[in-house]
Amino acid sequence: MKNLVFLTSMVLALVSGLSCRCVSCVNKTAPACTEETEVECLGDECMTVFQYINDDGNVTKSIFKGCPDEGKCNKEGSITVGNNKFLFYAECCKRDLCNNQTYQLPANNTRLNGKTCPSCYTVNGTEECVSAKDVACTGSENRCFIYRALIILPDGTVGNYSAKGCTNTFSCEVNFDAAIGVKEIKRDYLWC
Ligand SMILES: *[C@@H]1O[C@H](CO)[C@@H](O)[C@H](O)[C@H]1NC(C)=O
Ligand SMILES: *[C@@H]1O[C@H](CO)[C@@H](O)[C@H](O)[C@H]1NC(C)=O
Ligand SMILES: *[C@@H]1O[C@H](CO)[C@@H](O)[C@H](O)[C@H]1NC(C)=O
Ligand SMILES: *[C@@H]1O[C@H](CO)[C@@H](O)[C@H](O)[C@H]1NC(C)=O
Ligand SMILES: *[C@@H]1O[C@H](CO)[C@@H](O)[C@H](O)[C@H]1NC(C)=O
Ligand SMILES: *[C@@H]1O[C@H](CO)[C@@H](O)[C@H](O)[C@H]1NC(C)=O
Repeated sequence: MKNLVFLTSMVLALVSGLSCRCVSCVNKTAPACTEETEVECLGDECMTVFQYINDDGNVTKSIFKGCPDEGKCNKEGSITVGNNKFLFYAECCKRDLCNNQTYQLPANNTRLNGKTCPSCYTVNGTEECVSAKDVACTGSENRCFIYRALIILPDGTVGNYSAKGCTNTFSCEVNFDAAIGVKEIKRDYLWC
């Protein structure tokens, strides 16, 4: 019986992977958590997500700590729309409570990479925004995108957003859902 229990837990461990204790917290509006708890995660990794949003000069830094999200580990997101910049970095580590880091600004590669994209941004418009001017892409931003959705921003404002600009491959792959504190209620359109 003892052997059977042992065998069963071995099999379960193999099937479900290892487990890891991780720091858990989120702060949508500041680069540090005031209250951290512990969470048990499947697999042997913990994750921290660092986020930087520059909204026409209004900078918001956010942090998330918890269980790893499949496919986001050690990926960087980068989006430029007009004067707005969105940077995102998900770092994963292997050890109990290893995700105890303090905020690190996501890789700040502001070097122009030669690509340009039509760019515009509207709130509460039902139509696709119209670009009057191209924006210069930076760093890993290798694609243009068009996005329209009803979303909630970290500050709680709800609106029908329409945006065009530069993005990198990863930001497009995760469908913009990676952003901390941003909740997409209904998507109308995404093209990269
Ligand atoms: C986020 O950080 C701010 C500033 O340090 C703090 O006042 C607030 O309580 C934090 N929020 C959470 C959810 O940790
Ligand atoms: C920055 O945020 C403040 C407070 O939310 C707002 O009043 C101001 O208009 C914002 N500035 C820009 C440039 O968006
Ligand atoms: C994170 O934990 C390690 C040991 O587990 C410790 O050495 C390190 O100082 C901690 N870092 C922070 C930022 O708390
Ligand atoms: C990147 O670095 C430049 C130059 O140091 C600075 O002006 C800019 O604000 C930084 N951008 C981000 C997103 O950190
Ligand atoms: C968008 O319109 C709704 C309904 O008219 C309004 O409540 C909301 O504040 C608007 N959002 C923004 C960001 O302007
Ligand atoms: C977003 O657009 C839909 C469809 O036009 C509309 O019904 C809804 O009220 C809008 N929401 C906001 C917050 O503006």
